Amino acid sequence: MMSRTVAPAKTLNAAILGATGYTGGEMIRLLARHPHVHIHSLSSHSFVGESVHSVLPNLTGLELPTLQAHESIQGEDIDVIFACLPHQQSHTLLAPLAERHRIIDLSADFRLSLSRYQQWYQTEHSAPELLHAAVYGLTELYRDSIRSASLIANPGCYPTAVLLPLLPLLQGGLIESDDIVVDAKSALSGAGRTLKPHLLFCEAQQDITAYGIDGHRHSAEIDEQICRHDPQAPEVLFTPHLVPMNRGILATLYVKTQASPQEVVSHLKATFADDAFVHVTDEHRMPHTSWVAHSNHALIGVSPRIVNNRLVLVCVIDNLVKGAVGQAIQNMNVMVGFDETCGLDSIAPRL
Ligand SMILES: NC(=O)c1ccc[n+]([C@@H]2O[C@H](COP(=O)([O-])OP(=O)(O)OC[C@H]3O[C@@H](n4cnc5c(N)ncnc54)[C@H](OP(=O)(O)O)[C@@H]3O)[C@@H](O)[C@H]2O)c1
Repeated sequence: MMSRTVAPAKTLNAAILGATGYTGGEMIRLLARHPHVHIHSLSSHSFVGESVHSVLPNLTGLELPTLQAHESIQGEDIDVIFACLPHQQSHTLLAPLAERHRIIDLSADFRLSLSRYQQWYQTEHSAPELLHAAVYGLTELYRDSIRSASLIANPGCYPTAVLLPLLPLLQGGLIESDDIVVDAKSALSGAGRTLKPHLLFCEAQQDITAYGIDGHRHSAEIDEQICRHDPQAPEVLFTPHLVPMNRGILATLYVKTQASPQEVVSHLKATFADDAFVHVTDEHRMPHTSWVAHSNHALIGVSPRIVNNRLVLVCVIDNLVKGAVGQAIQNMNVMVGFDETCGLDSIAPRL
């Protein structure tokens, strides 16, 4: 696929497919503050012809285009498309658009190899050639490939929180690739806005549960990335949990190491020394999800002790920002040569 370069001063026209969902609404909210982006068009499945304000009243005050059908989003003047659609809708709807537009897809449709995709999603992929061309958009670790990409597979929220600490330590040889255990918690917005009985207030508040214990699709994405480093690596044991919060992911990683906690901290700090959004907490302080809420930051904490050669790391992100929309905008900034932090200056509110 061809890469395109745009001078930083140009204003980009952005289209958002799936503008009415949790990620779509967050995309509008953040892009509206981006100095070099104009929101050109918005699409919906259920609200075609309606004003986006009627679906998302929090956007009152922004001048926005009327919602149109996904299929009608087109035009030479669209520079970038953000797809905030359910998986399996994305690859079908994006295939005809990929030839002419830069695309950043937030679904899982372009994140896996074809065989892994078919195995986990139990369906054929309608655009396997695009899947091969897509670049995995974990910005800090794949920035060089992102610069020349036309199609970005934006990472999942859990994989972002897991892979940011994990991949640099694997690449640096500080931890072993076998026997990695991940226990992760997600806020309810991670499941999207579609009505599901187990996400009703009465069901979900005052309750925490593990789910996907027979295999969660995000473990396939984590394994895919680890296998790039070590094709023989066994599966990660990944257990997600739903917690009654609006936003946030907290991933706890249990890894085998011969290194000291100080060496691990030093390696991670050196890896992310030039990055604006990924930080290692000082003095082995464990990060809170509230410290990154509404921001594009990721915080990594490293436990000060090792038990049976195992070290504990914790990574927190906001699932809707660094785990989705913020990272997507960060990837767009890299693709077109804007400052990587452009439009992403929000930090977590104190309360
Ligand atoms: N939520 C997160 O934290 C998060 C994080 C990372 C990645 N993601 C991924 O981002 C994508 C969007 O997630 P979300 O949480 O924003 O989901 P969501 O809140 O459920 O929104 C889904 C969007 O897709 C549209 N849609 C629903 N069913 C459709 C169908 N059958 N055909 C075409 N369009 C349909 C909806 O339109 P209407 O509202 O008009 O029906 C809505 O705009 C998903 O692939 C998800 O896995 C989500």
